[in-house]
Amino acid sequence: MNIIKAEDYNQMSRMAANYIAAQVTLKPNCVLGLATGSSPIGTYQELIRRHQAGDLDFSKVTSINLDEYKGLSPENAQSYRYFMNTNFFDHINIDKTCTYVPNGLEENAEKACADYDAIIENCGGTDLQLLGLGNNGHIGFNEPDEVFAKGTHCVDLAKSTIDANARFFDSMDEVPKQAYTMGIQSIMQAKKILVIVSGKGKANIVKEAFTGPVTPQVPASILQMHPDVTLIADKDALELL
Ligand code: F6R
Repeated sequence: MNIIKAEDYNQMSRMAANYIAAQVTLKPNCVLGLATGSSPIGTYQELIRRHQAGDLDFSKVTSINLDEYKGLSPENAQSYRYFMNTNFFDHINIDKTCTYVPNGLEENAEKACADYDAIIENCGGTDLQLLGLGNNGHIGFNEPDEVFAKGTHCVDLAKSTIDANARFFDSMDEVPKQAYTMGIQSIMQAKKILVIVSGKGKANIVKEAFTGPVTPQVPASILQMHPDVTLIADKDALELL
């Protein structure tokens, strides 16, 4: 594993953007696996800046996102599709029909997951998968479990996640209780994986995930088995390594 230490969140974001920009430049028709959350926002902003400066062309890129809340429409400001559009896709020249996020409006979970696995397979898997790291070691919505889930699946959100999300909705009924997430096998089949982590709050889980035992109780620990993983983290997140 390649570990790159950044001073802070901003430098981490610029370094991650360097890595992704190199991938897009060297293989303009690459497939990027993308994440939502606070970790990649700075990276997306930096990629947008480079695109607007004329240095990065996304016209041939395909993207496949990790996850989506079940029941939320693309127009819902809390959906991950909305996040990707507003934080990234709306500001670059990617063909939106080649950007994939699980279909949150598909009520039949089996169908939603099978459809998404078919999309991943048709795209030939991802060239580069960008990941954030959850406080409990989750990647995508693959939460600590007895086994590593393989393909796309529907997860019941933890009560703490549902409670935390409640503030964004008018009523508890509207808060999503489930999500669709890409499985560990699809993540592991990416040719390259880039993990970005920032902040002291993640120092413990960074140590556990990247130097502890490989166990489904810490889903990110499986990344130790991948042949091409780069971790770009700020010094706060790396302080226990
Ligand atoms: C997002 C995702 C999650 C986040 C993780 C870290 O698509 O799949 O696994 O990457 O929860 O979130 P942040 O970056 O907000 O700390």
